[in-house]
Amino acid sequence: MSQESDKQRLRIGLCGLGTVGGGTLRLLTTKQAEITRRVGMTLDIVHVATRRPDASLQELGIRISQDVFDVARNPDVDILVELMGGFEPALELVLLAIENGKHVVTANKALIAVHGNVIFEAARKKGVVVAYESAVAGGIPIIKALREGLAANSIHWLAGIINGTSNYILTEMGERKRDFPEVLKEAQQLGYAEADPTFDVEGIDAAHKLTILAANAFGIALQFEKIYTEGISKITTADIAYAEELGYRIKHLGITRITPKGIELRVHPTLVSERQLIANVNGVMNAVVVKGDSAGSTLYYGAGAGANATASSVVADLIDIARAGKDDRTGSVIPPLAFSNLRTDLEILDISEIESEYYLRISAYDRVGVMAKISQVLTNYGINIEAVIQKEPHGADLEKGTVPMVLLTSRILEKTMDIAIGVIESLDEVADSVTRIRVELFNDEIA
Ligand code: HSE
Repeated sequence: MSQESDKQRLRIGLCGLGTVGGGTLRLLTTKQAEITRRVGMTLDIVHVATRRPDASLQELGIRISQDVFDVARNPDVDILVELMGGFEPALELVLLAIENGKHVVTANKALIAVHGNVIFEAARKKGVVVAYESAVAGGIPIIKALREGLAANSIHWLAGIINGTSNYILTEMGERKRDFPEVLKEAQQLGYAEADPTFDVEGIDAAHKLTILAANAFGIALQFEKIYTEGISKITTADIAYAEELGYRIKHLGITRITPKGIELRVHPTLVSERQLIANVNGVMNAVVVKGDSAGSTLYYGAGAGANATASSVVADLIDIARAGKDDRTGSVIPPLAFSNLRTDLEILDISEIESEYYLRISAYDRVGVMAKISQVLTNYGINIEAVIQKEPHGADLEKGTVPMVLLTSRILEKTMDIAIGVIESLDEVADSVTRIRVELFNDEIA
């Protein structure tokens, strides 16, 4: 904190007054007296940078700038809150704030996932905190759960629904058979979707969040470039219906797991048994299951997006920094990641090295013996068929003379499945590319 500040007051500079920025401003102003009572310190917004200045801010005595860098340069600001999103100018702004000795609170998952290693190193050198609880799963305090509540555990794996927009779309497609574009538009209107909605539907947003979760779970550096990412844009209502017939739901999951070969880090649509709690997390809600060696499985559920839920986590970070700053025993440092002791012995596995059960949907010409041929190929690669659905052709299948065949397979190495799928696709009887969705069993877990 700057020298001008005293122990009773934390001066906040807010950059960005969109959905989350507006929610944060509202929460801090309406709850100020209660927060002061709890923390023993006043959290005051003294400076706001926004492209759309509002006269009511001036009435509150808040300085307003159009240039966000004014906030990073203002010696009367102790903490810069970055709620603009994106890389530029967010990265430059955060580094300047750190350089000027300010703590930083950010909801910017892309920034932390991609540039976090550089940012944390700069913060470490300056002795300031960079806190980012709001970057992952909105109002769910999952970073604090990993860093504090589960601190005694070795984490075995975690799996989560961490993109509300994708979950909302899958839920609406499954329950109301609504079209993808219409549901996406609704998610945008509700303020859930990213500025570029491909970040939601192609899994990039979830990949940013999983990168951050894995770093906290395993004490590794942020490695966004190594994550396997697949979105929901190729999931059809037919897949959702077939999965349901087999007793499963299709959820977009981020999964990270420590294995003897290395760390799995993957985001993709996943079949989850309808009996698992996480299969019943619907709409825009998020949930993360964490398996620790001592606590066992714990489940965190809540709103993953939206102004109020995300502001709850932003303000929680501000309160953490205020409390740490007041505590003369610990000084003002909350370690954002174990950056001085990062594990470097754990490799991120390529997706071809993971093992999974699979859902396969094969569009085959309606000829005698086709099923036998497909099952022979799978047998040749050591893959068992655990369940089959074969439907009467209708609609487009009827016109093409094809039938949809849906299989659930036994557990197999992904690269073996890649080869088997290649052979199946090369059969004369198979009309189209094979749809493959990984299955997550969680086995004895509470997920
Ligand atoms: N677009 C994100 C989501 C917002 O849908 O989950 C919260 O990070």
